Amino acid sequence: MRFNVSEINECIRTRRSIYPVQFSSRKVHKELIEILIENARWAPTHKLTQPWRFKIFHGAGAVKFGEDHAEMYKDLTPESDFKPVKYRKLKDNGARSSAIIAIIMHRDEKESIPEDEEIASVAAAVQNMHITCNAYGLAAYWGSGGCTYTPEMKKYLNLGENDKCLGFFHLGYPEGEWPRKTPRKQRGEIAEWIGE
Ligand SMILES: Cc1cc2nc3c(=O)[nH]c(=O)nc-3n(C[C@H](O)[C@H](O)[C@H](O)COP(=O)(O)O)c2cc1C
Repeated sequence: MRFNVSEINECIRTRRSIYPVQFSSRKVHKELIEILIENARWAPTHKLTQPWRFKIFHGAGAVKFGEDHAEMYKDLTPESDFKPVKYRKLKDNGARSSAIIAIIMHRDEKESIPEDEEIASVAAAVQNMHITCNAYGLAAYWGSGGCTYTPEMKKYLNLGENDKCLGFFHLGYPEGEWPRKTPRKQRGEIAEWIGE
């Protein structure tokens, strides 16, 4: 075997979403975030379009992003639907995260492959980051709530016409206990064998 597979299996299988409320005050340094980005760019990509783009709101940038996102939610939500808890959460997510990384699909100019494949590639890149986080003992969570899919967020992030924001990767260190074990379907439920 080329690598320590039992450690790699363990790292993949124990990766969990850890939310900003579970983050400690310990800060994630830029150098570590660079490693996450480095690993992201080795995800598979059809025709090598490499559609992943990231905008990293770090430190004070994350705090400001949380405030701006909360305000955006307030501005875009009719008063009757407005939930103060949601507003507070969007704001707190910024204050509690060392970094918030906007996950962006940059559409290939030639549109040479289907958009679904570009989105799949970006998701693979994010999974690379998430597994790397587990390896380094970082806490991370991919959130697509709030104003993620709105034209206003697209404008805020200065995205191109055909680009898409796919959510936000929240980054910190975990506080205390490791989180809930999210259940999974059994292998027999998700894989059908044809042949021997
Ligand atoms: C594309 C995507 C978007 C997600 N958006 C949210 C979200 O908006 N809010 C949330 O609580 N979790 C979100 N999650 C995290 C999932 O809830 C989480 O991955 C799932 O519960 C499985 O838990 P685990 O990651 O700990 O295995 C998202 C995950 C993905 C892949």
